[in-house]
Amino acid sequence: MLGRTNGSAPVSITGLGVHVPDRVVTNDEIAAMVDTNDEWIRERTGIRERRVAADAEAMTDIALPAARRALEQAGVAAADIDYLVVATVTPDKMFPTTSALLADQLGMPQAAAYDLLAGCTGFMYALAQAYGMVATGLSEKALVVGGDVLSKIVDWTDRSTCVLFGDGAGAVVLERVDEGGFLGFELGADGAGGKYLELPAGGSRLPATAETVAQGRHFVTMNGREVFKFATRVMVTSANAILEECGRSIDDIDVYVPHQANVRIIDHAAKKLEVPEDKIVVNVDRYGNTSSGSIPLALADGAADGRIEPGKLVLMTGMGAGLTWGSALIEWTHDTNGAAG
Ligand code: ACO
Repeated sequence: MLGRTNGSAPVSITGLGVHVPDRVVTNDEIAAMVDTNDEWIRERTGIRERRVAADAEAMTDIALPAARRALEQAGVAAADIDYLVVATVTPDKMFPTTSALLADQLGMPQAAAYDLLAGCTGFMYALAQAYGMVATGLSEKALVVGGDVLSKIVDWTDRSTCVLFGDGAGAVVLERVDEGGFLGFELGADGAGGKYLELPAGGSRLPATAETVAQGRHFVTMNGREVFKFATRVMVTSANAILEECGRSIDDIDVYVPHQANVRIIDHAAKKLEVPEDKIVVNVDRYGNTSSGSIPLALADGAADGRIEPGKLVLMTGMGAGLTWGSALIEWTHDTNGAAG
């Protein structure tokens, strides 16, 4: 899907909130669990540390503070939100949905609430859906949450995956504005590559049994090299497609916010796109890959360091399981500094 928002009511992000668990896990700590080391992880991924949820902490626990902060920043009462979408692959439970639980906890009796599953691209898909709802007037005020607690579905004995991921969430409020806001979206999926990044069991193809549990089939499996090739390709093609669709060039971009999976993927995309280093938000070193939490966490850092501010043109591109990818172009309209609360 590729489209620009010309002609429809301007819609923008009016509030941003993020939250990560307190516990910091360094590369050295992981090296004490599996056969790896800090140097390998930093050189191959750029990751120094990540946040890991406590045993009792689930997706709603991480999403709740982020959502509250986004609402506060937007000056919107929870009860006025009429549309809530939560992008995650690690819901509290498959059902009831995390969004329904969150709507209840926040106090949103009027809200349509559902979860969206699009791997690490979930936040981009959710933004596009919420944009459509608000632009058409079906929704007055929407809350979009992106986040994951991948530590709960990672095999902590598998060095090829456990070093990569971290936990975190972000939330944004979307409202109609006078001018600025979203310019367009590009979203895509390639199920043929889905096998390269999957959670094999627990669905209707391979239901949970004592055997699937014993075989460790409820953990993330990944072909890192294939995902790497896919990622470096789509991070470039998706960004170029949205820029062309919206009649903009890479030089028009003030801030580039890529999915934070691996600093080598980010560097590759930035080099191909010719984005100068000072325009790129990178925080994978502190958080690892937080899946759907990655882009909102990066938006928060870009706002905190003063680069994302009203009037700035921001390009976001995500990619992940599915395989999926997605980009959004937005002219920032609101001061979103202080998203971490
Ligand atoms: N520590 C030490 N050695 C390791 C580790 C580790 N943690 N993991 C793998 N190795 C070894 C391998 O076994 C291999 O050894 P060998 O040569 O003896 O076989 C060697 O390191 C090289 O392995 P590669 O897989 O070739 O390493 P590569 O440079 O490709 O880096 C990585 C691996 C970091 C996983 C990279 O492929 C990558 O980032 N891929 C993309 C992953 C990604 O972005 N996934 C998330 C997508 S988003 C989502 O939806 C969740």
